[in-house]
Amino acid sequence: MRDTRVATERTPVRAAARFVARHPRSVGSVVVLDAAVLWVGYQTVLMAAGIAVVAGASWRLLDRPTFDRFAGRLLRAWWRRWWSYRRQWLRIMTACNLTTIDHKGNTLAPRVTRVKSTWSWDTVHVRMAKGQEPEDFEKVINRLANSFKARSTNVRHLKPGRIALDFQRREPFDDMFVPLPDLAESVEAVDLRRLPIGRDEYGRDFTLDLLGRDLHILLGGATGAGKGSFMWALLRALAPLIRAGYVRLWVIDPKGGMEFGIGEEMYYEFAESDQAGQKLITKYTSILDARKLELGRQGVRTFTPSLETPLELLICDELAAMTAYADKAIRAPFELDLSKALTQYRAVGGRTVAASQEPTKDVIPMRGLFPTKIALRLDSASYVDMCLGEGMRDAGAFADKIPEYLAGVAYVKKDGRREPLRVRAAYTTDDDITELVKYCTDRGATVTPIRREATDDEHAGQAEKDIYSFDFESIEDADDEIEEIGYFEDDEGDEEIA
Ligand SMILES: Nc1ncnc2c1ncn2[C@@H]1O[C@H](COP(=O)(O)OP(=O)(O)OP(=O)(O)O)[C@@H](O)[C@H]1O
Ligand SMILES: [Mg+2]
Repeated sequence: MRDTRVATERTPVRAAARFVARHPRSVGSVVVLDAAVLWVGYQTVLMAAGIAVVAGASWRLLDRPTFDRFAGRLLRAWWRRWWSYRRQWLRIMTACNLTTIDHKGNTLAPRVTRVKSTWSWDTVHVRMAKGQEPEDFEKVINRLANSFKARSTNVRHLKPGRIALDFQRREPFDDMFVPLPDLAESVEAVDLRRLPIGRDEYGRDFTLDLLGRDLHILLGGATGAGKGSFMWALLRALAPLIRAGYVRLWVIDPKGGMEFGIGEEMYYEFAESDQAGQKLITKYTSILDARKLELGRQGVRTFTPSLETPLELLICDELAAMTAYADKAIRAPFELDLSKALTQYRAVGGRTVAASQEPTKDVIPMRGLFPTKIALRLDSASYVDMCLGEGMRDAGAFADKIPEYLAGVAYVKKDGRREPLRVRAAYTTDDDITELVKYCTDRGATVTPIRREATDDEHAGQAEKDIYSFDFESIEDADDEIEEIGYFEDDEGDEEIA
């Protein structure tokens, strides 16, 4: 390979200047380190480095997810960029026939411009060499995966001349067992802000918060992806409240009750067809409209589920059957009622969970109204952004790459968090569902009343915080944290000529 550049003479000074311009952070760190050694001596620098390493290692040991969020990603992206990608880049590009030759006989190679890293995936942005097309990379995709020792690789077109190569480094759910949480003993044992559903990729509990972040939940997933497991896990987590009458279930299963028919006894209302589904949602909205007026008249600002005003959970499996494939006379009013349910009842205890195989705009025109979106295995890459929102696949939500054998694995996107989280729901078998139905319909069971804010205590401020109370003003100021995925970027200059 000739070490030349087109129409430019490569002198050592010019090459060094280019290197500094392209890697300001790495060069800056080395300069600062050298200056510190000269200034305070290498013993002090070594000691400081040792303390930083011990502090970082302890942090990682004690709380790996937060370490990864704030420091791990950046360190990993930096390390991978130099060690895994840059170091072997030219060798692998040449071995995989991903170099081209120009009119002067110079060999042109694609160039790494940016590396991003999440716990399971790395993304390498590449500027293609002249004469290349994305298909050249697609043709050798398995060779690339093997060469970079990745479990799988994927090519994405970013813009003309640019592609992203995604490398899957690990699959945490291969070895992780996701246990089904025990049925809670009593109403007191259920925390509506932390309803256990499964585990996340770090092995932490994955929970849903029906009082705060996860007011309405949209599940998108191909057939057999495991949408049912999220919905059953949610019902299992709510079991004592369902039994006590503090949560009422309104279930629409337009596929003839195939999936939810088994739990019919524990629902407040159940619809097995699209006509029945339409009637059900009309009743649902009329009850919640009346409640909205009533609570508004009383000036109630805090909603607490009670026997008089239970949390009304609307579940709609296979939403497409109601919104896209139903007769217009059913479809139009259903869409209106659903949009109303998603926008008007959060303060009066209306919650919605809906599932669909196709999360497209035609099928779910109101998908933007769901604050929490969960993408299970999807059939096509374009469905990922449709389900989770614009740019989520770029941010690392590779739902179309979830293998079939990993049913129940999904990417979760919550409002206010930019970063998707990979999770797996616990699997509720038919036997577990039978147990759940028996539990929820055991009317003889003693019901502990829900703990309320002390009503007889004038000094309510001194009362213990009521875990079920829902202050809808707090939602407006909900946590707005925005997170960036760690990356290292180097996007200047022309492509490298090797
Ligand atoms: N969380 C999970 N963990 C392990 N296996 C699961 C999980 N969820 C589902 N499965 C497996 O996948 C199969 C299909 O799951 P499920 O019926 O929930 O899919 P679905 O997305 O509802 O599909 P459809 O759209 O056809 O109703 C289950 O029978 C089970 O074997
Ligand atoms: Mg299903």
